[in-house]
Amino acid sequence: MTADLTTRYLGLELSGPVIASAGPLTGSLENLRALEDAGAAAVVLPSLFEEDVIEEELHLADLLDDGEEFPEFASAPLSEAAADYVLGPERHVRLVERAKAALRIPVIASVNAVNPGGWERYATLLVDAGADAIELNMYAVAADPHESAALVEARKLDVVAAVRAAVSVPLAVKLSPFYTSVAHVAAAVVSQGADGLVLFNRFYAPDIDLGTLAVRPVLTLSESDDLRLPLRWLGILRPQLPTASLAASSGVHSGADVLKALLVGADVACTTSAVLRRGPGHVAAMLTELRAWLESNDYSSVRQLQGSMSAASVPDPAGFERAQYRTIVTTLGR
Ligand SMILES: Cc1cc2nc3c(=O)[nH]c(=O)nc-3n(C[C@H](O)[C@H](O)[C@H](O)COP(=O)(O)O)c2cc1C
Repeated sequence: MTADLTTRYLGLELSGPVIASAGPLTGSLENLRALEDAGAAAVVLPSLFEEDVIEEELHLADLLDDGEEFPEFASAPLSEAAADYVLGPERHVRLVERAKAALRIPVIASVNAVNPGGWERYATLLVDAGADAIELNMYAVAADPHESAALVEARKLDVVAAVRAAVSVPLAVKLSPFYTSVAHVAAAVVSQGADGLVLFNRFYAPDIDLGTLAVRPVLTLSESDDLRLPLRWLGILRPQLPTASLAASSGVHSGADVLKALLVGADVACTTSAVLRRGPGHVAAMLTELRAWLESNDYSSVRQLQGSMSAASVPDPAGFERAQYRTIVTTLGR
């Protein structure tokens, strides 16, 4: 008997539990098609970053200003240049339109804004372009000593409520793990109207280049070990937020990783680093491994497995919390 891999995420019926999360591959139509062919059940397009939009709009304004000073160029060539120049939001809008036209699977658009009003404005543009759902990528570094955690969190919750009011498609919020109370923030985001949470965003800390004495950005792709932080929080949050969709993100590299995420309560597992390293076809290998495990362990479906090892279902839920730390440092580490 073939195991049924279908699942439900953000109210969307999906053919399977593996989603291609935002990253370079989901920014090209060719790779989006390859991801779909390999069995990705949905794709999240690269985030629309408001700073990029502003920079690109300023660049276009410069082009047009130059035209005013050189009227002989302004009429035809510069207006053509302006017409060809793909503006920040327009680039993302076109990608949504083209992805929707090319794919059968749901297309989720991601927004990372900075200014009040920006989040709703860009989310609305992307929904109008056909996005099946919106993911808010709330990546920010809270470095202002005058802003309390409560203030930072309240601002994020206002954004969620504003986008919720602006769009009617399902809404996911991609969270960072760096909160004093992840459980409180997660519940608050859901109570503001988010349909689901993506756990977690991956933070990239800068490095110092000793040759040039410059602060330089470093991209380190994840490993399977990075999944353990999402596993803990998925396991804890699943029974606390029974109606919210939960997606695992960070460290999903294999069918085994997908299985672990589903067992603790994820509806889907998202992957970026693994497909960047191994190519879009790796999704098919993950699904083959997942299917083989389900069948050899007598599971008829993904749904049968989902959440069966969350904190509410395991005999020792403390294993997700402090007790696990004590065991490791006092027993395993000595
Ligand atoms: C090169 C690169 C670009 C990414 N771009 C985005 C992005 O635009 N928006 C976003 O929300 N996440 C972005 N991510 C984060 C991924 O979507 C994902 O959450 C993270 O890489 C953890 O998953 P992984 O362990 O499967 O890589 C990016 C990751 C990488 C490696």
